Amino acid sequence: MAKQKLIHGNAFELLSYFTRKADLIFSDPPYLIEKGGNTTNEMGGMFSRDAVYKNDGKLFDSVPTWDEIAQLCWDLLKENGEAVIMANDKNINKAQNAFEAVGFRHHRHIIWNKVTVTPARNGMNKTELALYMFKGKTRNWNNCGTDNIFTVPEQSPLMLTAKNKKLYGHPTEKPVQFIESVMSEMIDRDSFVIDPFIGSGSTMAACKRLGINSAGFEIDETYFKAAQKRMDDETASPSLFDINHTGATEFHTKEAS
Ligand SMILES: C[S@@+](CC[C@H](N)C(=O)[O-])C[C@H]1O[C@@H](n2cnc3c(N)ncnc32)[C@H](O)[C@@H]1O
Repeated sequence: MAKQKLIHGNAFELLSYFTRKADLIFSDPPYLIEKGGNTTNEMGGMFSRDAVYKNDGKLFDSVPTWDEIAQLCWDLLKENGEAVIMANDKNINKAQNAFEAVGFRHHRHIIWNKVTVTPARNGMNKTELALYMFKGKTRNWNNCGTDNIFTVPEQSPLMLTAKNKKLYGHPTEKPVQFIESVMSEMIDRDSFVIDPFIGSGSTMAACKRLGINSAGFEIDETYFKAAQKRMDDETASPSLFDINHTGATEFHTKEAS
């Protein structure tokens, strides 16, 4: 049975914890949400209303630079490994520049279609982005017909209902189904996935569902405990490669329907 190893602590101090490097890094790193400001109105919108922001753009106490994040991911990834790094449209160029500067090569963006829109006067937004990159040689997706747009309805605290119990109180929680669908194109039976910034553990949950080994770090004790709880709530699955005798193609189609 696959194992998920959750470690409470600072990823930059603990990166040598693993002797094994990752085949795939899937992460949604901490970054500044906006450039910040001095007035209480500067961060208008959902987060400021809920007083999650400190109005300096920091959702989290620890916000490393993109250069630091890129170097960390490079050091955690094995040669010929891949990385999927989520970032919003204001950060994605900075992130790409930093990752390319340490040696990553960029395939293309992966797009999460959230279905519902975030209101904006200059173009309603219903997507989030991720960089899809590699170190060394590239590899094929398990289903070469899959495109780079993954349609999964957003989980939002505002949409919390009795039926929607898979929410763990993290402000930037990502849907496990999105991560699972993307990763199912990139993994093998023996893949090892690292998420250096697990938050509420959505990447770890996707790995548990796919039946592959994974590990990750979380610096904040509250979020670390939420991730541990999520692991307890997730039912362990047999490996994707054991339950699906016809390959990942069928699995992906089934999950997406
Ligand atoms: C954007 S969130 C990840 C959310 C996650 N994708 C989810 O679905 O819950 C990034 C996380 O990185 C954590 N973090 C920030 N700096 C860290 C560090 N140096 N080491 C480990 N975790 C860190 C933050 O506490 C935050 O929970």
